[in-house]
Amino acid sequence: MSRREDLLTLGIETSCDETSVAVLRGERDLVVNLVYSQADLHARYGGVVPEIASRNHVKKLPFLIKDALQAARIEFPDLSLIAATYGPGLIGPLLVGLCHAKGLAYGLGIPLIGVNHLEGHIFAHHLSTVDQEPPFMALIVSGGHTTLVEVNEYGTYHVVGATVDDAAGEAIDKIGKMMGIGYPAGAEIDRLATEGNPKAIRFPRPMATSAGFDFSFSGLKTSVLYHLKKNPRERIQDVAASVLASVVEILTKKSIEATRRFHKKRLIVVGGVAANSHLRQALHAAGEEKGIAISFPPMSLCTDNAAMIAGAGAYRHLNLGESHDFDLKPNAGLSID
Ligand code: KG4
Ligand code: ZN
Repeated sequence: MSRREDLLTLGIETSCDETSVAVLRGERDLVVNLVYSQADLHARYGGVVPEIASRNHVKKLPFLIKDALQAARIEFPDLSLIAATYGPGLIGPLLVGLCHAKGLAYGLGIPLIGVNHLEGHIFAHHLSTVDQEPPFMALIVSGGHTTLVEVNEYGTYHVVGATVDDAAGEAIDKIGKMMGIGYPAGAEIDRLATEGNPKAIRFPRPMATSAGFDFSFSGLKTSVLYHLKKNPRERIQDVAASVLASVVEILTKKSIEATRRFHKKRLIVVGGVAANSHLRQALHAAGEEKGIAISFPPMSLCTDNAAMIAGAGAYRHLNLGESHDFDLKPNAGLSID
């Protein structure tokens, strides 16, 4: 490999219940991004069952890699770098992806790079933009995380706030379960909310006005539970709209305030919940009012995918000269700073 544009990275993501494989050329040229969601396998349990997730990554990953190479019209010897998520996430699923990545890198005699899943989400934005580089504030909002990160340059991250209990997506999924919506509930609650009245029920906005940038969503969950017990005939669209009104207000207030406090001109919003249309609308409106540029990756790069993992790995390899030894271990609780 002589030129950086020629670097061909195979990205592997298996931190939760999506098996995903991507091929990236250079730093940003996404050739293919295949995502196999196991959501249907977990739906009957109302959430991800780690053992089932691990077993299905084992089953699916080799075929997805083959399909990705075929779709990219390349073969194994064409690859120059293997990038795989090594944390945070579920330990079994992480082990499957990382071990597979090590085997490939060793067999092909090419470097391996372990990627932090949260940094991966930030690179979903990098992949889809050309002129929106740090410094900026990043809100990572997904099923596992609600974290505000100050990004002055890629590779150096400062967490300024995070959830003290449930992640926003986790709370939305649990509330969805109470409402009888299948797992994951985010997209369906988003759709239902468009037909509902966000002012129908005034659910609490925990920590929305507290000092600091931490979040809390478990109180909202309990409040919805009691409300539904008392009012079993409540219109489901109104419940969805009122729940999202609370979640969106908390996320918008805190992230705009953090962006201002840390003197940033841009806020990027990444992770599965960044796909939410109501959040997108509210943040765009707030950004316009406060003079802050707001950006979201395209929907397909918001939820878990290997493109963002390949993106972060290729960036670190090309610009920071990084790669990992084969004794790299998965780390379920890996932090970004
Ligand atoms: O980033 P992601 O795929 O996985 C984690 O890293 O956690 O995020 C999944 C989360 C789920 O909680 C799902 O319900 C939520 O993102 N989600 C949404 C929407 N689409 C996915 N939440 C709200 N509105 C959506 N449109
Ligand atoms: Zn994620």
